[in-house]
Amino acid sequence: MRVFSGIRPTGDIHIGNYLGAIKNWVNLQDKADCIFCIVDLHALTTPYKAKKLQKNIFDLAVTYLAAGLNPKRCIFFVQSQVKAHVELAWLLSTITPLGELQRMTQFKEKSTKHPESINAGLLNYPVLMAADILLYQTDIVPVGQDQKQHVELARTIARKFNQRFGKVFKEPKVQLQKIGAKIMSLQNPNKKMSKTDSPASYIGLFENPREIKQKIMAAMTDSGKEIIYNPSRKPGISNLLSIYSLFSGKTIKQIEKEFKGKGYAQFKKSLAQVLIKSLALFREKRKELLKNRTKVQKILENGAKKAQTIANSTMEQAKKRMGLN
Ligand code: AMP
Ligand code: TRP
Repeated sequence: MRVFSGIRPTGDIHIGNYLGAIKNWVNLQDKADCIFCIVDLHALTTPYKAKKLQKNIFDLAVTYLAAGLNPKRCIFFVQSQVKAHVELAWLLSTITPLGELQRMTQFKEKSTKHPESINAGLLNYPVLMAADILLYQTDIVPVGQDQKQHVELARTIARKFNQRFGKVFKEPKVQLQKIGAKIMSLQNPNKKMSKTDSPASYIGLFENPREIKQKIMAAMTDSGKEIIYNPSRKPGISNLLSIYSLFSGKTIKQIEKEFKGKGYAQFKKSLAQVLIKSLALFREKRKELLKNRTKVQKILENGAKKAQTIANSTMEQAKKRMGLN
């Protein structure tokens, strides 16, 4: 079974990215044939600083390693180092209906957020993402809830191509976490946690204990005082319960029981401790990796070579079927 997923190198990775995506990847690398990508070309579609891009790519590679991806058990690489992604994206764009792209939720949201830079790349974003996925004959795409629609479009594009030109691509399926697919903002539990919002709304994967405690204690909660899971009535507490459960390995029921009759403050203090303990491990690993930059670069180079071999083989088939040489 082939698994493929990616994250944009656009700055700090937060616990939402970890719980919604990376944590699941770490489990999958022992069970399936996994490829994880640093999708730098996708990062160009929203405002960014060219001077900071290479640093962000390197930091994301370090994050993947610190969070537990093992280059011996999976392939990971930088998207722009494998040219076939862009080439296949062009081919696929010629069979993707414009209307499908215009109705994508992320396109609409990002166009509203950055009205000054609604570029064609932002519209074509899902086509490049489809190319990422289809090049590797992917079965499963583990992502957060917000990417489900894009994976479904990749599936539609694969089917369209296969019907028109003959079978080249596998039709990929999305994989969402039961809890964790959508971790909410600490400041507004009705909005997803996002690295482009204020720092108080998210916890970075390498944040220090003082900041973690501060942010959790200041997290917005609901009226009342019971610690119970009910996302529609108690979105704030339910979000914190999800985070607690995913980091501690305890079920939500167990945690509810543990905090029965206790207040929000006590629950939050305990959650801060759980987070501080879990994230300390990541911080340690990151420190080690930052001392060995060439090792990280080598891992990316090796990954790109392996990815290229797989990608080129699919690319050749797709070109032939479309009548190109
Ligand atoms: P991005 O930073 O948008 O490239 O997202 C990287 C991965 O993290 C994708 O699989 C997203 O679906 C996932 N993700 C982003 N934000 C959240 C969130 N708040 N909760 C769960 N997963 C998320
Ligand atoms: N669009 C994804 C996101 O914003 C990142 C991404 C690009 C991706 N290509 C991919 C995810 C291929 C899974 C598979 O999170």
